[in-house]
Amino acid sequence: MVPLQRPRVCCSSILALLLLSLLMFFEQLVVGLPLSPKEEEVVSRFQEYLRIDTVHPSPNYYPVTEFLIIQGKQIGLDTKVVEYVQGKPVILFTWQGTDSSLPSVLLNSHTDVVPVELAHWKHPPFAAKMDEAGDIFARGSQDMKCVGMQYLEAIRNLMAAGFKPQRSIHVSFVPEEEVGGVDGAKKFYGSSDFKELNVGMVLDEGLASEDGNYRVFYAERTVWWFYITAQGHPGHGSRLFDGMALENLRISLDAIADFRKSEFDKVKSGEKAEGEVTSVNNVYLTAGRPTPTGFVMNVQPSQAEAGFDMRVSPLADLDALQKLLDEEWAPASRNLTYRFLQKGKVTDDFGNLAVTAVDDSNPWWVLFKRAVEKAGGTLAKPEIFMAATDGRYARNQGIPTLGFSPMTNTQVLLHDHNEFLNAKEYLKGIKVYEQILMSFTGTGDESGDPSNSKTGSGELSETIHTEL
Ligand SMILES: *[C@@H]1O[C@H](CO)[C@@H](O)[C@H](O)[C@H]1NC(C)=O
Ligand SMILES: [Zn+2]
Repeated sequence: MVPLQRPRVCCSSILALLLLSLLMFFEQLVVGLPLSPKEEEVVSRFQEYLRIDTVHPSPNYYPVTEFLIIQGKQIGLDTKVVEYVQGKPVILFTWQGTDSSLPSVLLNSHTDVVPVELAHWKHPPFAAKMDEAGDIFARGSQDMKCVGMQYLEAIRNLMAAGFKPQRSIHVSFVPEEEVGGVDGAKKFYGSSDFKELNVGMVLDEGLASEDGNYRVFYAERTVWWFYITAQGHPGHGSRLFDGMALENLRISLDAIADFRKSEFDKVKSGEKAEGEVTSVNNVYLTAGRPTPTGFVMNVQPSQAEAGFDMRVSPLADLDALQKLLDEEWAPASRNLTYRFLQKGKVTDDFGNLAVTAVDDSNPWWVLFKRAVEKAGGTLAKPEIFMAATDGRYARNQGIPTLGFSPMTNTQVLLHDHNEFLNAKEYLKGIKVYEQILMSFTGTGDESGDPSNSKTGSGELSETIHTEL
């Protein structure tokens, strides 16, 4: 038995080795390095952008502005730079359409990036090193310098192919998204410059997808930040009595934990996606009387406070949430008070739910979906973004806005160590944007070849014009 088995082991291990090398060969094929000279040029422009450090907390936006202005000039776009807040420029490019009466398309991205913990990076975060597999490591490679450059590269290609957009295409690069966009997108979208653009459709950031389907976001959860303060009788740490601050607050923590669990369970069971539930997390707790070595141990404190980061889904019942806060989480009857540090709306400026339709009722959606498919992509079920992006400033004005960062089979690494994007995936995304732009601004020509597109009033564009 033993001698018979040996060759089998040997053969199967040879087979495994063969299979492994075959797999590795295919992986090489899928990754597809090396790049063609043209692809290398495109990728190196992306790397150049990534190498310009725009990291918080004190980003210098001028070098990146200079770089982008050069890109716009090379491509042949109209360029405008506005500092709504000094030191925080918004860069706006325009490709004039042939029909200025049509609502335009705005492609937005932010130029800033979040801080890094250097010690955890295997390549320097602002070197944009590409490894043998084609993975480009850099802060901002996913969030979202990729998208900004893909917009420009898609336009560059369409221009070179002789495509003439019917409606104008604007590309905005805004600062400060990572700190709430107050000095960036909020100012820009609130400006007369923006109004003049007559924007009918906005694209902004989404998230990488870990499978083969692109993710797309049609709404966002809104931020409710609040804290609960408990007042109670102080007393000796040994005594049992009612009305102590920490005990009253504990009842709230339990109630909030129950709510958190019931929402989380819906995600775990697959009943709902993460953006469709309301999340709440206890982010700080303060109580007790500090001493140089710790806390006073034999006194029950007379005050305690707990802070919460809650993200409210636009699908949530707001009245019910408010009632929970008033009656269960922070009732006055338990000597509790609460205060909001931020309480976002889920509705737009017109009182409608700030949600972009992702069905046939929205002609932009139909064009978007068709374009992604034409580029060979497939879309996952549209999602609600878990956190906030600049997209909300456009949605608040009732403008259809989709969050889309074309990255498939890519680990979600935004704000994480070793953020990277594969060069081939980056290049593929450019092709997707080419289709989207042709679809949004073309004449309804279905050939897919930009050089075949004619100017003039196309059927699809007319439909959008009248329906919006
Ligand atoms: C709230 O405070 C009042 C006044 O100190 C006290 O009489 C009451 O027992 C407290 N209630 C609770 C539930 O702690
Ligand atoms: Zn971002």
